[in-house]
Amino acid sequence: MEKIIDENKQGERLILETKDGNTRKLFIESYGCAMNFSDSEIVASILQNEGFNTTQSLEDADLVLVNTCSIRDKAEQTVRKRLEKYNAVKRSVNPKMKVGVLGCMAERLKSKFLEEEKIVDLVVGPDAYKDLPNLLAEVDEGRDAINVILSKEETYGDISPVRLNTNGVTAFVSITRGCDNMCTFCVVPFTRGRERSRDPQSIIEEVNDLWNRGFKEITLLGQNVDSYLWYGGGLKKDFEKATDMQKATAVNFAKLLELCAQAQPKMRIRFSTSNPQDMTLDVVESMAKYDNICNYIHLPVQSGSDRILKEMNRQHTREEYIELIDNIKRIIPDCTISHDMIVGFPTETEEDHQDTLTLMEHVKYSFGYMFAYSERPGTLAERKMEDDVPEPVKKRRLAEIVALQQRHSLYRTQQETNKIVEVLIEKDSKKSSNHWSGRTQHNTVAVFPKENYKIGDFVNVKITDCTTATLIGEAVGYSDNN
Ligand code: SAH
Ligand code: F3S
Repeated sequence: MEKIIDENKQGERLILETKDGNTRKLFIESYGCAMNFSDSEIVASILQNEGFNTTQSLEDADLVLVNTCSIRDKAEQTVRKRLEKYNAVKRSVNPKMKVGVLGCMAERLKSKFLEEEKIVDLVVGPDAYKDLPNLLAEVDEGRDAINVILSKEETYGDISPVRLNTNGVTAFVSITRGCDNMCTFCVVPFTRGRERSRDPQSIIEEVNDLWNRGFKEITLLGQNVDSYLWYGGGLKKDFEKATDMQKATAVNFAKLLELCAQAQPKMRIRFSTSNPQDMTLDVVESMAKYDNICNYIHLPVQSGSDRILKEMNRQHTREEYIELIDNIKRIIPDCTISHDMIVGFPTETEEDHQDTLTLMEHVKYSFGYMFAYSERPGTLAERKMEDDVPEPVKKRRLAEIVALQQRHSLYRTQQETNKIVEVLIEKDSKKSSNHWSGRTQHNTVAVFPKENYKIGDFVNVKITDCTTATLIGEAVGYSDNN
């Protein structure tokens, strides 16, 4: 669920409790990764102080904001369709409506948006949300407004995000912004800027605050969490220039995990996303040391072929990745692992594709997010390589890895049957309102009859059956964590 593009959440509208005295109406919807959903909470928090309450209806919104994703062409097309829809509503029933584009497409297309999409009044990149009050004042005076400046410092550490439309049990806590890795296929370094980490103190305060408000699970969020490094602020790449004192007192990701685990020993702690080249074994050791850090790692690899990994500028080989997995399993034998995979990267041959299949066969991931390569303007791959794998070949390769993953997912869920596992209840099961749905520490969804349990309870569940994605069972009592 914490991952990246959760298809169920695309286009979700953020609804907050109304604040007395606020008169303007905000419609805000989000596309893309967990970071965007988390950012929308920050935006809503800023606008709540500017006189806005949220609405679910486009027809009576004063301001419509869409938080956008550029990761694949399809993501951008979805947003363009939404802009057409806003435009239609504006023309027919709500001429006073103003429209703003936030997030990665705003950053990528900048002023082009204002020129090309006549309907857009406001363009705000991911590091400029604190400027929204000024930008809105411009818009109120009838001018277009834009701020797409990327920042060296901004982490929004001082803004406490509003979270009133959640299940009240699980929350994201953003810990880093941006990415320095420059994978050749990826647009993120261009749209979200250089990597910087958030002050651990403000992270711990947010974790404590969430616990006090009844939340039971947090996911520490960043494009590349293992690269987290706090030395008093500033870009990761400038760490070399830090003083000896700053270096001696720096907090890395392994340490941050421990600080969070210690601050709230009953809070479940997850993190996403890990990059194999930055994940060090001290992180795995921190996980092993604390029961409340979930034994689950999302560890994207993108390809099983050494040649393609190199072309993608991933800084590790297939063998190094396998060694990392072996080490994880040695330190935490029951750790589950999921992946991201891309098929059809430029020059990918049938042999490279076979390497991906054999790597998957070796690891037998619990689940994965799989994509056909989509060329992104401005990336190194777009500038240097021809998008030369034909669409039908990409489609076929994608179908092959998806089918293999299905088999492995089922293999993994079957391993859980007849076991008793701890489940944190999050919501009603999609299929039956007589059943709860929650997740195990391994991030697998489990459903079971409700009995007298309630949302937010940690329950031991005896697993009796499964599908590829879901464990099915019966509660046998509260877990010790309650
Ligand atoms: N480190 C980030 C990655 C964000 S992009 C994180 O997981 O938080 C999420 C996934 O989208 C990547 O791991 C990759 O598998 C996929 N992806 C990125 N760029 C892509 C492209 N141009 N075409 C297809 N898939 C892509
Ligand atoms: Fe993208 Fe690679 Fe960073 S996938 S977000 S450049 S780790």
